[in-house]
Amino acid sequence: MSTFSAPAKIILIGEHAVVYGQPAVAIPLPNLRAVARLSVDVPAGQGLRLIAEDTQQNIQLRTVQADDPLTAMLSTILERLGAPPPDATITLHSSIPIASGLGSGAAIAAVLARALSTATHIPLTDAELNDLVYEVEKIHHGTPSGIDNTVVVYERPVYYVRGQPLEWMATGGLFHLIVADTGKPASTKIAVGDVRRLYESQPDQIRPVIEAIGQLVQQARQEIAQGNTAALGTLMNENQALLHRLTVSSPELDQLIQAARSAGALGAKLSGGGRGGNMIALVTPDTAGAVEQALRDSGAARVFRTALQPEAS
Ligand code: PMV
Repeated sequence: MSTFSAPAKIILIGEHAVVYGQPAVAIPLPNLRAVARLSVDVPAGQGLRLIAEDTQQNIQLRTVQADDPLTAMLSTILERLGAPPPDATITLHSSIPIASGLGSGAAIAAVLARALSTATHIPLTDAELNDLVYEVEKIHHGTPSGIDNTVVVYERPVYYVRGQPLEWMATGGLFHLIVADTGKPASTKIAVGDVRRLYESQPDQIRPVIEAIGQLVQQARQEIAQGNTAALGTLMNENQALLHRLTVSSPELDQLIQAARSAGALGAKLSGGGRGGNMIALVTPDTAGAVEQALRDSGAARVFRTALQPEAS
């Protein structure tokens, strides 16, 4: 039995603008994970069996096919590996909430690909795995920027610019973060499509908003490298105002963001596709408890703490 795991991710700053070539920063969430356990000790001719514990799905694959999301994922991975379904059983479990901007799909694709690479004896480098997870992401997301797969596969904070060589984030201090879920699932694909239409219908208004987000992210990179928590908080608040202009916030997100700020957060904004899903707040050890409580009192479906640890790039 071999076990493979991959973390959730969260976007700290720069979502949506990243689709248009601006930078964004995303970090792994090591405590939320997708895990695949692989057993090849199965009867010959069994084919590939996937037991998805969370959804109680039991998928049997003898030929490559694509009739539901998990099967489509397995088939895409096997096609890319150039292998038929191996005789193996994969048991999948994930503690990452789905459709809430935490990279659940990318993490599941990454662990399934690692398990299938082992089962088929076709090795994958991290770079190949990253490309493969990106391909799988396209099935559900249309035209993802590639930030999710990158953080999930390498499990490191990234300063991401679409189409550019990978750059890891230098982090000059410990940044305490609180993530809260509106409890309202939202489609990233729809939000990204709406922003695209807005951009195309009002390019002179929307292009500057996207460029301004890119500027904030470049400043955020300096502040993170220098450990300047208060300055990063201000940039997150400014980013939220710009995300509003892209129409991707929502009353639920606004309520949680306001609650976090009123309770002392240094900055708060939506994270990911928006319109629902998660928000992220930057706090200090002194304000963390009050912010967490305020988010719960304002109706957050789930609240958890995480941190950006000091790290050289
Ligand atoms: O909803 P999430 O966390 O998967 O993030 C989407 C981020 C966007 O910038 C809106 C889209 C993308 O592909 O980068």
